[in-house]
Amino acid sequence: MPRTVDLLLLGAGQLITCRSGGHGPRRGAALADPGLVRGGAIAVAGGRILAAGAEDEVREAVGKVEAARTIDAGGRVVMPGWVDPHTHAVFAAFRADEYEARIRGDSYLDIDRRGGGIRRSVRELREIGEDRLFEISRRRIMRMLEQGVTTVEIKSGYGLDLESELKQLRVIARLGRETPLDVVATFMGAHHKPAGIPAEEYLRILVDEMMPAVADKGLARFVDVFCEQGVFDLEETRKVLEAARRLGFALKVHADEIVALGGTELAVKMHAVSVEHLTKVTGTGIAALAGSGTVAVLLPATSFGLASRQFAPARRLIEEGAAVALSTDFNPGSAPSSSMPLTVAIACSQMSMTPAEAVTAATYNAACAIGMQDEVGSLEAGKKADFVVYDVEDYREIPSRAGENHAAVVIKEGAVAWERAGYRERSEVGL
Ligand code: NIG
Ligand code: FE
Repeated sequence: MPRTVDLLLLGAGQLITCRSGGHGPRRGAALADPGLVRGGAIAVAGGRILAAGAEDEVREAVGKVEAARTIDAGGRVVMPGWVDPHTHAVFAAFRADEYEARIRGDSYLDIDRRGGGIRRSVRELREIGEDRLFEISRRRIMRMLEQGVTTVEIKSGYGLDLESELKQLRVIARLGRETPLDVVATFMGAHHKPAGIPAEEYLRILVDEMMPAVADKGLARFVDVFCEQGVFDLEETRKVLEAARRLGFALKVHADEIVALGGTELAVKMHAVSVEHLTKVTGTGIAALAGSGTVAVLLPATSFGLASRQFAPARRLIEEGAAVALSTDFNPGSAPSSSMPLTVAIACSQMSMTPAEAVTAATYNAACAIGMQDEVGSLEAGKKADFVVYDVEDYREIPSRAGENHAAVVIKEGAVAWERAGYRERSEVGL
């Protein structure tokens, strides 16, 4: 066994391991098992987990070694860092006036038709300088880290021309290099059709010019398409996905958010890694997902941000055997909260997911939704040592006490990436 231990975490009242016991995403009863260990510990070397589990087992596994650093969790909850598998976190400005307009009764598509929505964010992103775009985005994702997010997927799609999309993707890549977070990039030139170009011409540019350039520069792992009424129809979605597949991208689809067009069924047929939103998913969409490896990424904070009462049918998806994950959808318009704990809370209270299901869906299954399950998303030997000490005694306090940030220490690859100053002095745990 190892001769060096860089970090030894001891005294976790509840260690939520989200252990996978396999490679694929978790469904049904397996989704509901958070791998809870009482009196847990984690040993870390070289940024990776050497052992995680009951304290005596971990001590036995690592032998009699001096750890360079020890953290006493003091009876608190320790969990994997959240994996946020669907965000649009690189943008110029929030659109808070649209939030009020929706509360007053405008729909997302009404706002889109009058030039607001994604197209407004496109105008703003084209104008902003690359360094400033990087700096505001860096601050945003550092706030996500403070809430316990250690891996984040970020999409382009507010450029909608080659240069602006590349600018957005370069910023996404730089966020990966210059912050502690793992950042996974998705090219989403098919987020909308830009004003002033015929739709067919934009599709041609996307397929013949933009996607090859992005592939050539290695700036994205995935390609995503917004398959929606008034955006990309099913045939257009298929064309983009087929071209993406030819270029070696893995596939994602925004489908069944506002109107069900068959995007879920198409995504499954094309072996997309994930399909996202699913608020309006139909019975055939659910049946397709149930028999597939495509992860259903649900975005309840989007329904919340849209001031909508309609949520994806999480219970039915789970009961029929789909692999469900959760994400914020963090973006300037429909989902302006970047909080994974809030997302988990809404999933529990509005979609009737149990806290255990929601936690697994926001860690291990979320990692599956971005092809990162061998690296992150659970506390198991060999994976990255990405975990969070929460200042609570029971993991169910994280969703039930939403609205407060309970994160106390965030560890990324074995290093303290953020710590709440003086949390022990103010803590109720163990008092
Ligand atoms: O996932 N649905 C499409 N795209 C985003 C919204 C982005 C925006 O409103 O700026 C979403 O909800
Ligand atoms: Fe989205």
